[in-house]
Amino acid sequence: MPQLTVVTRTGEERTVSAPEGLSVMEAIRDNGFDELLALCGGCCSCATCHVHVDPAFLALLPPMSSDEDDLLDSSRDRNETSRLSCQVPFTAALDGLKVRIAEED
Ligand code: FES
Repeated sequence: MPQLTVVTRTGEERTVSAPEGLSVMEAIRDNGFDELLALCGGCCSCATCHVHVDPAFLALLPPMSSDEDDLLDSSRDRNETSRLSCQVPFTAALDGLKVRIAEED
């Protein structure tokens, strides 16, 4: 299974494995990171799954939809590495992906 490293808001870092077929949000949530609220369950309507992606992986991610872009605009912690983790499928190509959970809005 591909591996994912998650950095929490307090800077704790943990590497976990998750099966392909999940979204990055589901991979984070299913490994017990309760900081990532993911309130809408992955419907791209809440922005509580906001993460910052290691720049080395940004080019491997699918393009951002206009809905995702609009939602991210509502976050004060948005920067060029921001993505909504529910909109990123976790695939073998992303093995080793590192994300940091964004600040709460
Ligand atoms: S879980 Fe709500 S936008 Fe991702």
